[in-house]
Amino acid sequence: MQAKIVVLAGDGIGPEVTDEAQKILDKVGQRFGHTFAYDPQLMGGCAIDRCGSSLPEATVEACLQADAVLLGAVGGPQWDNPNAPDRPERGLLGIRKALNLFANLRPVKVQPELIHASAIKESVLAGTDLLVIRELTGGVYFGPRQEAGAEGYQAFDTMIYTRPEIERVVRLAAEAARGRHKKLASVDKANVLASSRLWRRVTVEVMQEYPDVELEHVLVDAMAMHLIRRPASFDVIVAENLFGDILTDEASMLAGSMGMLPSASLGDKQNRHQLPLGLYEPIHGSAPDLAGKGVANPLATILSTAMLLRHSLGLEAEAQAVEAAVNAVLAAGIRTGDIADPKSEVVGTATMGDLVAAHL
Ligand code: IPM
Ligand code: MN
Repeated sequence: MQAKIVVLAGDGIGPEVTDEAQKILDKVGQRFGHTFAYDPQLMGGCAIDRCGSSLPEATVEACLQADAVLLGAVGGPQWDNPNAPDRPERGLLGIRKALNLFANLRPVKVQPELIHASAIKESVLAGTDLLVIRELTGGVYFGPRQEAGAEGYQAFDTMIYTRPEIERVVRLAAEAARGRHKKLASVDKANVLASSRLWRRVTVEVMQEYPDVELEHVLVDAMAMHLIRRPASFDVIVAENLFGDILTDEASMLAGSMGMLPSASLGDKQNRHQLPLGLYEPIHGSAPDLAGKGVANPLATILSTAMLLRHSLGLEAEAQAVEAAVNAVLAAGIRTGDIADPKSEVVGTATMGDLVAAHL
């Protein structure tokens, strides 16, 4: 197969982790006979510096022409001025919207090798294998807002959801649950928020089409607690944008580190292989404190390429080979600093990439 992959390396550790991900894709290409062509484009802080916009038009065009998009991370202290007209994060939200990527899949699987890297007890973590599906193009991220004026007195954001926005993401989550353990937990704050009451009503309606999938509604504050008390009892979790953002940072601690969690953002656009045009990125940020030091964990981005192979290119065997190579390296006791324990061998970003490639 031939595939064109836009690479948005971004800022901070972004370029370091996407370099390793490309190394892995090249190796997959060699071993399985595929040709992956990369199209590097600017997005985020680097794009503000080079073209004066966090999301240049050329980047959107390139993504729309691609089979998939691989993203590192965006942001950094040099772009944090609250009065600046543009911010790196605006580019990220913009590309999610431009590609209509309404569902963000964040699988959280506790690897037996890393069970000790987590701050949570082994007995609680055992058997944890969940998939969080975060709504990605609606809610308070995109609702009308008002910045505080010069006197800094009042500001607001608005959480808005429409019926179709809820329906499509809940349906996608229900389909995912059907392919797994047939359990769906829908997260909301229906005891307080009007948008959550609509979320719950529409979820109940959609789930009538899925009588084989067991549905439970969980308030977001309770979910924050259940995730660290009984994570193994969940299968698929669906949540609106901000709740999903917060809960997945929390859930990453089950897997030991933010540096381990991949994600896939999917929507309704198809690529030329008649598969979803997706964007694949680690859930972690640009980690400015680690940037340029060669110590960042590339595994979340490498595992994101496995999701890319699976969802946007239909290459399931190749995706599993990447996941198996990551597991083999972890089983050999190799770690980056964020997941290190006293018995492990600590390596840098590039060596971790080399070792995963070697196992492939
Ligand atoms: C994420 C990030 C982004 C988000 C930020 C960088 C805008 O935290 O992908 O989870 O909030 O969606
Ligand atoms: Mn986040």
